[in-house]
Amino acid sequence: MSLADRHPGRATAVAPANIAFVKYWGALDLDRAIPRNPSISMTLSQCVSRTTVEVLAGTGADEVLLAASDDSPPAPAPEAFAGRVRGHLDAIRRWGGGEAAGLRFRVTTANSFPAAAGMASSASGFAALAVAAAAALGRRPDGPELSALARASGSGSAARSTLGGYVEWPAPGSPPEDPRAVQLAPADHWDLRDVIAVVESGPKEVSSLAGHRLAPTSPHFARRQELLPDRLDRVRRAIRGRDVELLGETIEEEAIELHLVAMSSRPSVFYWTPGTLEVLAAVRQMRREGIAAWATMDAGANVHVIVPAADEPAVADALGSLTPVGRVVRDGVGTGPIVVGDDAERGR
Ligand code: DP6
Repeated sequence: MSLADRHPGRATAVAPANIAFVKYWGALDLDRAIPRNPSISMTLSQCVSRTTVEVLAGTGADEVLLAASDDSPPAPAPEAFAGRVRGHLDAIRRWGGGEAAGLRFRVTTANSFPAAAGMASSASGFAALAVAAAAALGRRPDGPELSALARASGSGSAARSTLGGYVEWPAPGSPPEDPRAVQLAPADHWDLRDVIAVVESGPKEVSSLAGHRLAPTSPHFARRQELLPDRLDRVRRAIRGRDVELLGETIEEEAIELHLVAMSSRPSVFYWTPGTLEVLAAVRQMRREGIAAWATMDAGANVHVIVPAADEPAVADALGSLTPVGRVVRDGVGTGPIVVGDDAERGR
């Protein structure tokens, strides 16, 4: 009798998205998601993926279901997404070893934020998959091991979503062949907010994967590597000392440089839209008015505005009144993934 026949494991995990302060852009080994440079992010709390993993009896392919939102019914996922999930499940089976190597799974996943909002869901999605699948196998890997398991999806940023608060990946001193994430500070260290101005709701035209591949073709990529150690230090120092000015000016400079590298790659990758520039101008205007608001953008047009908690309502109102902003998502620093509900007991 197999493990699946004896006691089908099942677990549900909720894992958050994150916003990168220093970006992962360019890889030493893209197939294994080994980054060219360390990255630092803030784990979010409201933008989450909820994923259930069940061990299925019998043989056949893994089933992958996707719900458009938390309260809509799940349906078979589009093949591109399902293929990535199956690839990640293969890595999880290898990690599980023994009987786990032969198991098949049903994965059901939903995002708290609409998929059409054009916001990153792979980090939260693959972190949730790693946590839920491990729990369904009766395993609870620790933070660094979990980050390695999430990274096996090919989404490097998922490695950072396995921990709460402020996270660095790879940790200083991580061997390049096995980069792991560490928490720089827990969520309650600093109550920062991320007010997301959604100016583009469709999927991005160029994936992060393609962006990583093209990054070294930019004449500015090598210079970026020289500048990064000091910038990483400034971000670590700003987090440690809760210095919003130091953090803000450093992350805005970093985001602009990421896009400079993308725009000057051959061929050029352009994520910004006129709406992005309008939000960036509004953020500068807020600063002139004395609000500590600073912008960062991942590989997309939407702008994440990082602010101290007290400024969040005013910043959200101001961003919401801009014509190109279709929606404002208010988020903040979160505590990381959890295994939820009765499923947690059954999956243990
Ligand atoms: C610009 O390879 O992790 O967001 O799987 O699409 O999340 P996804 O991409 P990944 O690259 C992330 C690129 C980035 C910067 C960052 O999050 O560090």
